[in-house]
Amino acid sequence: MADSEATPPPAGAKRNVRALALEILFEVHHKPGTFAQERVQAAARGGLNKRDRRFLTELVFGVLRHERTLDRIAAAFSDVKWHEIAPRAREALRLGVYQLLWLDGVPAFASIHESVAALPDKRVRPFVNAVLRAVDRGVRRLPLAKDRGGASPRKRLEIEGRKVCFFPKEVFADPAKDLAAHLADVFAHPPALVARWLARHGEEKTRAILARNLEQAPLFVRVNRRKATREQLLERLRNEGLKCGEGNLPESVRVLAPPTELVATGAFTDGWCTVQDETAMKVAPQLEPKAGQLLLDLCAAPGGKTTHLAELCDDGATILAADRDEGRLERVREAVARLGLKGVSCMTVDATDEASIRAVTPAPYDGVLLDAPCSNSGVLARRPEAKDRITPEHLAELTELQAKLLKTAVARLFPGGRLVYSTCSLEPEENEEQVRALLAANREIELLSEESTLPTEAGGDGGYFAVLKKKGQGLPRMTTARS
Ligand SMILES: C[S@@+](CC[C@H](N)C(=O)[O-])C[C@H]1O[C@@H](n2cnc3c(N)ncnc32)[C@H](O)[C@@H]1O
Repeated sequence: MADSEATPPPAGAKRNVRALALEILFEVHHKPGTFAQERVQAAARGGLNKRDRRFLTELVFGVLRHERTLDRIAAAFSDVKWHEIAPRAREALRLGVYQLLWLDGVPAFASIHESVAALPDKRVRPFVNAVLRAVDRGVRRLPLAKDRGGASPRKRLEIEGRKVCFFPKEVFADPAKDLAAHLADVFAHPPALVARWLARHGEEKTRAILARNLEQAPLFVRVNRRKATREQLLERLRNEGLKCGEGNLPESVRVLAPPTELVATGAFTDGWCTVQDETAMKVAPQLEPKAGQLLLDLCAAPGGKTTHLAELCDDGATILAADRDEGRLERVREAVARLGLKGVSCMTVDATDEASIRAVTPAPYDGVLLDAPCSNSGVLARRPEAKDRITPEHLAELTELQAKLLKTAVARLFPGGRLVYSTCSLEPEENEEQVRALLAANREIELLSEESTLPTEAGGDGGYFAVLKKKGQGLPRMTTARS
């Protein structure tokens, strides 16, 4: 059963939010390199009102977070095999099941009818309609407090600690036979990832991480101290209608609104703040940047940590922001301009090619930040679409790339200089083991400290950083790097 891949709704046609959600989900699944957050923000900028922006965010991220579970449920009620269902019809089924079982405020009729109407290919509509109706009829929903227990774990699903669904047939894997497969089904994660977390963290901690990844990620911003104090930022955001409060770090503010609303505020457009999770906010200070230094950010885009480095030394350092992705580097330039920073210049380069960087700036650097491309396994609440990309093969590719990038970082470092290596991964191969391999291969590098954070421990993301130093003392710089 194929829908016509080439028939999305015509550009410019009036499209409802569900149709927009369906197209974004389709792109996330079929166009490599599509970031859900970026697509939702771009769509929101295209003239949606506040209510529609929130609904679009809810639909896209709700589906991506719960995708494997939604697929299990829809497949159980379909007489066509899941992989034989047309791609856009699968997205419509996910959207419909999510609304029917997760969203209490949406009437079942609207969940079904509008998800079906969002499909550009009319031929697949009756099939999607039939499956969604069967789900609505067949699934019993109860508040969690009314659950008397006793249902098979293969036929029962707890939703957000508030309600429970009972299925008339076995939908999920049997936990007695394969716990990882069962948890993968009910918490919507890849089974191999669940199995590796079970082996490392045990069942209780793994369940906590999985549940945490299904929650909405909190939104934090970092105040740009060069433009405002945290109190001034809080006041301005509140005046602009956003609920917010102090974060856990001195420069952090927690915003209780979707990112699409934050980026529309004057406080944001005037460069008073940057969206950044608190775990990420801890990284740039580890480099101890100082005015007059020459600093290199090897994987800089979209610029969260580059701009933090610049702000920390009152824009007095010379910072080279390198990234191999020119499109993403453009976002560093935008952030630098918005925040009013002068000391950052950008360079599109493959940072595994050390010679290209040396050709531009022959002098070694006082500090190098390597915020490496990684599996994202610490930020799956924020980037749920990354879940299915975490495979053993992908991890092996990533660790090889990270090792090459570390080699460049070490080569470009001044004796006595600092190197900060960070990821938003929970996987030891990308973190501690990567650093141990670096230390074993480079006697001139010493480890000063390292920290890894699980998403359940932090207010927000999980991640890792190591602070390293190149032994020895280089000649002191006689001039400021920018002169
Ligand atoms: C984790 S993100 C960096 C986030 C950034 N430091 C921040 O705080 O906003 C990793 C970046 O590495 C870049 N990247 C991946 N491979 C690279 C390579 N070989 N050379 C340079 N940049 C690379 C990606 O384009 C991506 O922008």
